[in-house]
Order: sequence, then C-alpha cells, then structure tokens
Amino acid sequence: MDLIVYHAADDAESRAALALIRHAGLEPHVIAPARSPPAPVLLDELARRARRPLATLLRAAETRGAGEGLATKGLATKGLATEGLATEGLATAGRPAGAAPAEEPGAGLRTPLVVSPLGVKLCRPAERVLDLLPVVPATDLDREDGAPFLREEQVAATEPRLAKALREAGLPTQDLRASPGRFFAFRTLGGRLVGYGGYEAFGPEALLRSVLVRPEFRGRGAGRAMVRLLTGRAGEDGAERAWLLTQDAAGFFERLGFAPVAREAAPAAIRQTPQAASLCPASARLLGRILQA
Ligand SMILES: CC(C)(COP(=O)(O)OP(=O)(O)OC[C@H]1O[C@@H](n2cnc3c(N)ncnc32)[C@H](O)[C@@H]1OP(=O)(O)O)[C@@H](O)C(=O)NCCC(=O)NCCS
Repeated sequence: MDLIVYHAADDAESRAALALIRHAGLEPHVIAPARSPPAPVLLDELARRARRPLATLLRAAETRGAGEGLATKGLATKGLATEGLATEGLATAGRPAGAAPAEEPGAGLRTPLVVSPLGVKLCRPAERVLDLLPVVPATDLDREDGAPFLREEQVAATEPRLAKALREAGLPTQDLRASPGRFFAFRTLGGRLVGYGGYEAFGPEALLRSVLVRPEFRGRGAGRAMVRLLTGRAGEDGAERAWLLTQDAAGFFERLGFAPVAREAAPAAIRQTPQAASLCPASARLLGRILQA
C-alpha cells in the first residue's frame, strides 16, 4: 500500500505516526514540507481529500519562523485555551540551510499529514493514522514517553461493562441509557482494555464524559491520549468547544488545556445535560476548551 507522510522530525506526534505505520509493517514515502513544500495546486488537492479547509492544514503565517504560536486570536476573550499547543512542535528554528522560504504556503503544512488510498488526514493525535491503514497492528507499542498507543472501539451506552467500570470509578451512570453520546472502549494495540470515555455532541458544543483509565494503566499518559482521541472525534463530528464536569480530576484536564468556567457561563446545551443539571454535585467544576480546527 502506498502511503505518503508529510513529516517533521522535531514533531513528536509526527514521529509517533511514523512509528505506528512502521509497526504495521509499512514503509511510507516521507516528505519534509519545510524542505520540499507541496505546490499550491497539490495543497488544494490535499485539503479537498482531507475534507478540511486548507487553512486548517497550514500553520498560521505569523507563527512560522518563530515556532508554533501559543496564542490564537480571540480565544483569550472566551477564557478558553486551545488544544495541545505546546506539543504542536514543528518549530522552524531548526530548519536546515537551503530550506524553502517561509513564504511558500506549503512549507507551513502541519504534520503529520498522511495520504493513503483510504483517505488523507492530519493525524493529531497519531492514532488517527490507524483509520488509514489496511490493518491495525495487533501487538502493543508504546510512545516515546512510555504511554501506550491506543485504539478505539465504539461501544453502546448500554454496554454493561461500561456501566460497571463507571460505577467502580465513582462516575455517574444514571443517564447512560438515555445519553445521546458516543462511547468508546480504549485498548492497547494488543487488545488490553485501558479505559473508557465518551462525548455528547450538541452542534458546536461537546460534553466529554465517562473518562476513566483502569487503575493499572494510570500515570502513563493513557488518560491524556484518550482525551485527545475523544476531542479529535468530537471535532470531526463538528464540535468547536469541549466541556466537562469533574469532581476530582480538574488538574488533569487543566494540563490538557481545559480552563475552569463558571457554570452559568456555559452554553445552554451543556447546562441542560443531566450531568450538569442534576447528576454532578454543585461542587463539581465545569471546564472548557476550544477545539483546534
Ligand atoms: C483522571 C484520570 C482519567 C487520569 O488518567 P491517567 O492515565 O492517570 O492520566 P495521565 O497519565 O494521562 O496524566 C496526564 C497528566 O495529568 C496528571 N494527572 C493525572 N491525574 C491527575 C489528577 N487527578 N489531578 C491532577 N493531575 C493529574 C499526570 O500527572 C500527568 O501530568 P504530566 O503532564 O505532568 O505528565 C484517571 O485518574 C481516572 O480514570 N480517574 C478516575 C475517573 C475520573 O475521575 N475521571 C474524570 C472525570 S470525567
């Protein structure tokens, strides 16, 4: 199978996607956009096949040359932060001599952008590349930081093992059956159950819920990886902001870019969910984050 990866060696997520592809026994064509920028006509084609506006595949011009920018205009006023910016990488400071001039739009292509006969995707997090491979590798593999690579498997809200795991973690289950949400079991590539998570999407707003990591997998970055996969899926479903309520894990979510928001400032769709309206105690904190396009 022919695969092309637009790759930046200084981007951990890009290295992770390459590792996954090679773990599947495939050797892709690797292109560094900073050195060999795709021509504008090819950029348009990539955006069309990725079904995304071209601008979302490119780093903003003002952030090039100074590393990925941290601030995104307008976000500060909403009090929400954006996703994974610190890991967005692709700093151009290390660009080798003879690299393409920054004004070439293709030099700002975000990575890892993967082109496969099964589709074109910006694979952030790297596990998104699993959607583009003919076969998902069936043996475990860890990221450079020791977190296991995960695969998702959608499960019904009525799945008894989901409710049991939530009860054991002290998370609400009363509204599961009526939930309009999508729920996932997360497993290592080899099939070991790592945890669960889900989200309820209401147009541009998504409520993350039921995020839990089995105790034996905690503290290895699995929770972080699960939240990134969930917000990525919610974004694909059209969500622009993610929200959640938590009693004990606010610090965990704050590390992932979420910020506390007063409940009354949340959109009505979120305030009216059973979790916000009745199930989570008043002491549970509401946090929100803008999802990166
Ligand atoms: C909260 C939970 C999902 C975290 O999962 P995890 O796999 O242990 O988290 P990670 O290893 O990915 O941690 C990512 C970072 O958050 C930090 N962190 C983890 N749990 C934390 C917590 N409860 N409070 C503050 N920080 C926390 C980690 O130290 C790590 O920090 P680093 O970026 O400096 O390395 C897990 O403890 C859990 O399942 N708890 C019970 C259910 C729950 O409370 N769910 C949330 C409500 S929806």
